[in-house]
Amino acid sequence: MQNRKIQAAHSSKEFTDDFSGPAGSSSGRIERDSRSWGNPYREIVDSFPGRLFCADDFQKDCSEIDDICSRADELFVEIGSGSGAHLLEVARRAPRAACIGFELRYKRSVRTIQKAQLANIDNVYVFRTRGELLGDVFQGRAIDGVFVNFPDPWEKLKRRKHRVLGVNFLNLMSNMLARDGFISVKTDHLEYYRSFLADVRGDSRFHIVEETEDLFASKYAEATIPTEFEALFRKKNEAIKYVLIHRSDSTTAHRNE
Ligand SMILES: C[S@@+](CC[C@H](N)C(=O)[O-])C[C@H]1O[C@@H](n2cnc3c(N)ncnc32)[C@H](O)[C@@H]1O
Repeated sequence: MQNRKIQAAHSSKEFTDDFSGPAGSSSGRIERDSRSWGNPYREIVDSFPGRLFCADDFQKDCSEIDDICSRADELFVEIGSGSGAHLLEVARRAPRAACIGFELRYKRSVRTIQKAQLANIDNVYVFRTRGELLGDVFQGRAIDGVFVNFPDPWEKLKRRKHRVLGVNFLNLMSNMLARDGFISVKTDHLEYYRSFLADVRGDSRFHIVEETEDLFASKYAEATIPTEFEALFRKKNEAIKYVLIHRSDSTTAHRNE
C-alpha cells in the first residue's frame, strides 16, 4: 500500500524538472529512466551519495536519512527548498541539526548540495521527491521545524488540490511536528496565504505566534532568512506574507493575537 502511494507520487505528472514546462504542466512529466531529455543535472544526480537522495530505492534512502537524523540534535525540513539559499543558512545557524530539503527539480537539488559543499556546510541534505512524502520518510521521528517558502500557488481552482499547504498538510504536521516544533511559511500569494491561515485558525491543534501580510514592514524582517524567490518578489516590490505556527500543546507557544 505504502509502496503504491510512493510509486504514484513519483509517476505523477507534477513531478517536474527544470528542463520541462511549468510545474504541473503535462509536458513537465519526467521519467527517471529516460535519457532523452538530456538534462545534465539528471545525469549527475547520483554523484552526491549520502547528501542527495533520489528515491530510486525509497526504503534505502529513508534508512540512510534515519541514520543521519539519529546523529543530529535537531531536524529541520524545508518543502520546496529550491536552490537551497534558505536551507543552507538554516544549516549554518544550526550546525548540529540535520537540515533536509524536499525538492522536485533536479537542477535545484543538485545546486543545493554543490553550494553546501563549496561552503563546507555538511549538515544539508536533499531528497528529490515530493514533500508530501515526509510522513513516510521520517516515520515516527519528530521534526523540530518545517519551512515552506514561496510554494507554487496553483491558482486555478481545479489545480488547487496540488497545493502543499492546506488541511492535509496540517494533519500530517500534527503527527510529525515535535511538541515545541514550528511551521514557518512565506509567500507572495495573498489568496493562498489567507486560505491557509483560515485552515490554521480552524484547527485547534495549532496556533499562530507571528503573522504579517508585509514582512519587510514588520518587526519580523530582521530575523528572516532570505530565499531566492523572495529576492525576486522584493525586486518587484511585492509584499511578502509570513506566518509562524506552533502546536497548541507546545510548552513554549503563546497566543499573541
Ligand atoms: C516557487 S519555488 C520556491 C523555491 C524556494 N523555496 C524559494 O523560496 O526560493 C517552489 C519550489 O517548490 C518545488 N516544489 C513544488 N511542489 C513541491 C512538492 N510537492 N514537494 C517538493 N518540492 C516541491 C518546486 O520545484 C520549486 O523549486
